[in-house]
Amino acid sequence: MKAIGYRQNLPVDQPHALEDLDLPAPQPGPRDLLVRVKAVSVNPVDTKVRRNRAPRAGQPEVLGWDAVGIVEGIGADVQGFRPGDRVFYAGSITRPGANSELHVVDERIAARAPASLEDAQAAALPLTAITAWELLFDRLRVPHGGGAGQSLLVVGGAGGVGSILIQLARQLTQLEVIATASRPQTQAWCRELGAHAVIDHSQPLATALADGGHGQVDFVAALTQTGQHYDQIVESLKPQGALAVIDDMPVLDAMKLKTKAISLHWELMFTRSMFGTPDMAEQGKLLAEVARLVDAKRLRTTAGAHYGTINAANLLRAHAFIESGKAQGKVVLEGF
Ligand SMILES: NC(=O)c1ccc[n+]([C@@H]2O[C@H](COP(=O)([O-])OP(=O)(O)OC[C@H]3O[C@@H](n4cnc5c(N)ncnc54)[C@H](OP(=O)(O)O)[C@@H]3O)[C@@H](O)[C@H]2O)c1
Repeated sequence: MKAIGYRQNLPVDQPHALEDLDLPAPQPGPRDLLVRVKAVSVNPVDTKVRRNRAPRAGQPEVLGWDAVGIVEGIGADVQGFRPGDRVFYAGSITRPGANSELHVVDERIAARAPASLEDAQAAALPLTAITAWELLFDRLRVPHGGGAGQSLLVVGGAGGVGSILIQLARQLTQLEVIATASRPQTQAWCRELGAHAVIDHSQPLATALADGGHGQVDFVAALTQTGQHYDQIVESLKPQGALAVIDDMPVLDAMKLKTKAISLHWELMFTRSMFGTPDMAEQGKLLAEVARLVDAKRLRTTAGAHYGTINAANLLRAHAFIESGKAQGKVVLEGF
């Protein structure tokens, strides 16, 4: 089968940073779906793994943690799916990614794809929707339908995660949603997705909030460049507020949160699949609910740029765009 992967950790401007490969088809385990992949999206994690995770000796590493496809086979213990089902999922970081014609995924972290979306539009959603959902409801513990009189600041509102978090917070809670974006087009995008207000993260956040007529906020979703914004985030939070973080930084000084008794919450959407937690099927359930909300026209796709066919050259262009930090919504590719 066709697949795209890497054999060396190389910068994105090196032609062999990703390669077109011919690999044997994977075999589904007992709880796995064998999926014929139709479309994928690219996340910052792809670029981080490509740069930093050494391939196993002699083995190419296949990236890609967002896919839509058709179930072609099922493991002996699969209960929820049949061949022919159209599914969407992010998969597990401990298994090969989905940039391959055939791919296997545990049925507990997959769901039927939204029927109202084309393949590439649906491929934009799973990884970021899982992240945003878990951040809002499992980590910050905002009650469904709750949050009246409270506010959420989404730092990096126009990115992949921010684009679906804004929508989930608007559709499923009563929170006031303030997003950050630095360019006219990303600011307009955040408003279209439902943000009540947008502030510019190229200004100090607390100042930008005050200039926009906003007070301190109850919750901050720190989605990107948290190290850069950290002091301003602490200043922007109310006493006893809560901070959720998803990105990488060399160090995060939790002592700075003590004076205001701010709680700190990490979200990592791969945790459940990585450890096989007893509740890992919650990800399949939340993806099914996201698909239902999309088909009910309450959520929309976050697909932004379409980078064409799934091959090494197009994926490298997509990686370069993600690494630029300028993505608006998600980057998608489809077909092999
Ligand atoms: N822990 C998890 O489970 C998890 C899940 C998904 C992603 N992540 C991580 O979360 C981070 C964000 O992911 P993503 O997919 O949302 O990224 P993304 O789509 O690449 O984010 C792009 C956005 O970042 C904004 N941005 C650029 N520089 C910024 C800055 N200095 N301050 C604030 N915003 C800035 C840009 O807005 P403007 O153009 O308006 O400046 C752009 O819209 C990545 O590090 C990713 O690896 C973690």
